[in-house]
Amino acid sequence: MAQQEDVFKKLVSHSKEYGFVFQSSEIYDGLSAVYDYGQMGVELKNNIKKYWWESMTLLHENVVGIDSAIFMHPTIWKASGHVDAFNDPLIDNKDSKKRYRADVLIEEYLAKIDDKINKEVEKAAKRFGESFDEQKFRETNPRVLENQAKRDEVHSRFAKALNETNLEELRQIIVDEEIVCPISGTRNWTEVRQFNLMFSTEMGSTADGAMKVYLRPETAQGIFVNFLNVQKTGRMKIPFGIAQIGKAFRNEIVARQFIFRMREFEQMEMQFFVQPGEELKWFEYWKKLRMAWHQALGFGAEKYRFHDHDKLAHYANAATDIEFEMPFGFKEVEGIHSRTDFDLGSHEKYSGKKLQYFDPELNKSYVPYVIETSIGVDRMFLSVLAAAYHEEQLENDSRVVLKLPPMLAPVKLAVLPLVKKDGLPEKAREIIDSLKFDFACQYDEKDSIGKRYRRQDAIGTPFCVTVDHQTLEDNTVTIRHRDTMAQERAVIDSLGDAIAKQTDLKHLLKKIAE
Ligand code: GAP
Repeated sequence: MAQQEDVFKKLVSHSKEYGFVFQSSEIYDGLSAVYDYGQMGVELKNNIKKYWWESMTLLHENVVGIDSAIFMHPTIWKASGHVDAFNDPLIDNKDSKKRYRADVLIEEYLAKIDDKINKEVEKAAKRFGESFDEQKFRETNPRVLENQAKRDEVHSRFAKALNETNLEELRQIIVDEEIVCPISGTRNWTEVRQFNLMFSTEMGSTADGAMKVYLRPETAQGIFVNFLNVQKTGRMKIPFGIAQIGKAFRNEIVARQFIFRMREFEQMEMQFFVQPGEELKWFEYWKKLRMAWHQALGFGAEKYRFHDHDKLAHYANAATDIEFEMPFGFKEVEGIHSRTDFDLGSHEKYSGKKLQYFDPELNKSYVPYVIETSIGVDRMFLSVLAAAYHEEQLENDSRVVLKLPPMLAPVKLAVLPLVKKDGLPEKAREIIDSLKFDFACQYDEKDSIGKRYRRQDAIGTPFCVTVDHQTLEDNTVTIRHRDTMAQERAVIDSLGDAIAKQTDLKHLLKKIAE
């Protein structure tokens, strides 16, 4: 665990050192849980968004996009349930004066029990070697059974308390399990209170009677309120989807783990409108497809898992998360929710406008049901960075390399003249001039070739091309591959095709369309 935390720290400092992510307002000592993307970060982020957008809109002729405003009529948030129910249960420790999410304290406690069980299993696996039967061990070892029983008991109390929004019971679990404040080490807790996560501001001058408006906590509502606009103007037939990428804001109390939990972040959401009664079929369809989207990146299927919700949100009749193995454990990156007709039905009620679809096949109108896929761009970014980050010991050296999927890499190709003279820089520029329309290229002539390779490894550039004296004679260059560090000689004219083969997004899209 300590080793993984170490990796995470290195990842955060690597992100800063190479221009991926900066603390917001850093020269003013930063703003908590708000981050800026640097020159490399913005490219990686844009590539992730493009991958998502094209997987939605190119691969599905019945999915179209929109870009709705961040400010929306305040009644929308009443209708969506966010004004009344978008709360976190908070608890304060009276000694440290620190505030925590009660549910997170309990989840962390459960994770500790899981750790204990896993350690027992690991120890036994080492002891018994090849003959180890893990399932049997889990079913019979007294210490594992004792811990598992404890976990199950706390978990079922916890799930029930969450489902019933029973704040007293949440506190009681913390008291009964003797959960202590990580800062003060004491159990001197306040009551659990609800805290709304929406930011608000005022629109218009006070003289006109300013209106309280919210910064949207999800992009989904911008899709719901445009459902009929898109359906009518696009002549969409159910089932169909509307996709959107945009900023969302939440006043997170437990804001930590770098860009995992932010106060300003970006979402990629798609609402898929279906006939009532067919929602669970489509829920399964999107579950499968979204997992395929993640796995096509090639980081390994074992890095992902589904986690079904214990507590369904107020609008859902089925929900699951896609979790990714971050350096701090498996964490939610995406949610897939069957939202029923809750949102459209509620907007009908609050707006007084009909939000129904006339189904020509059934010859009747209905409020469609909705399957939502909702993924955080920043969390996706973090998962990609975490999976790509490698420290490698070489024969006489070591390197940090980001093994990014080439389609997502911020720079696809670095062109490096061996020396800064003899016409090599000019030749290198010539190559960039012919390829820059297709690929993000970088020119670098400073320092030794070895150092230049390391710099490109650190930002995940899949190809480095070295221009040397032979290039001037026969128009060939050396291509160096990032992951294997293998080098080969190639003619300049073949570079475009060779690089496109590895970096074109369509190869990823084809994998998920298979
Ligand atoms: N419209 C449904 C919705 O917003 P959610 O589970 O609250 O569902 C969806 O959020 C995704 O948005 C999460 O899986 C996560 O990737 C991302 N997300 C949510 N809160 C976030 C935060 N504070 N910082 C970064 N990403 C966040």
